[in-house]
Amino acid sequence: MNHNNITNSNIRQKNELFNKSWIKKNNLLYDESVEIDKFKNKCISKIDSSPMCVVWLKNIDRLLNLIPKYYDLKNYHFIDVGCGSGISTIYFKKNYKFKTYSGVDFEKIFIEYGEINKKNSSTDDIRFSIEDVTYLRLQDQPYFLFLFNPFGLKTIKSLIKNNLQNLKNSNSIIGYVNDLHINHFTDYDVQIIRDDFYNISFIGF
Ligand SMILES: C[S@@+](CC[C@H](N)C(=O)[O-])C[C@H]1O[C@@H](n2cnc3c(N)ncnc32)[C@H](O)[C@@H]1O
Repeated sequence: MNHNNITNSNIRQKNELFNKSWIKKNNLLYDESVEIDKFKNKCISKIDSSPMCVVWLKNIDRLLNLIPKYYDLKNYHFIDVGCGSGISTIYFKKNYKFKTYSGVDFEKIFIEYGEINKKNSSTDDIRFSIEDVTYLRLQDQPYFLFLFNPFGLKTIKSLIKNNLQNLKNSNSIIGYVNDLHINHFTDYDVQIIRDDFYNISFIGF
């Protein structure tokens, strides 16, 4: 999968090298050969899914740099929405302070990888679970939802529609990397701060 529209091969190499060495240093498994047949059970949310790919971890740092300083992330519950094998979740846990950490993905195999990665990297206090985000219902508390282009507009719409009131009440945040559907968010009364070069958005509800 392409991470963004960046064509400069130096930039791509640097980001990919950083991923490789961080993944290695933390003893994480990343099996790119796991193929998911999304047409197998014709579930609509599976057809809307993006293929598994690990985010450029440096884009997580770029995302965090977009967040206005008056947000105190220690009060926020972090969820990696479409966490895959949990590498992005573990990067957040090791580098940024949130109140709690979880990762959800509807592919059992990725959640199994997530559990192995958690153990291999001696990371504790992350809750991985098998869940279809189409049906996710957030509680009335502040969330930081991390999305690395996990799915198409259909699933984004149901995630927001099902949770809009709670997201607003709690001043929750979406951090959206490779933000293909960012235009959809202009339909809501939200603050958007965007890195147009890397296609990364902070969305404040
Ligand atoms: C591009 S990968 C990102 C993985 C991870 N965040 C990372 O950076 O390493 C997107 C993930 O979203 C998951 N996904 C797609 N649609 C989903 C849905 N409706 N519910 C839960 N997970 C979903 C896919 O299975 C895939 O693992």
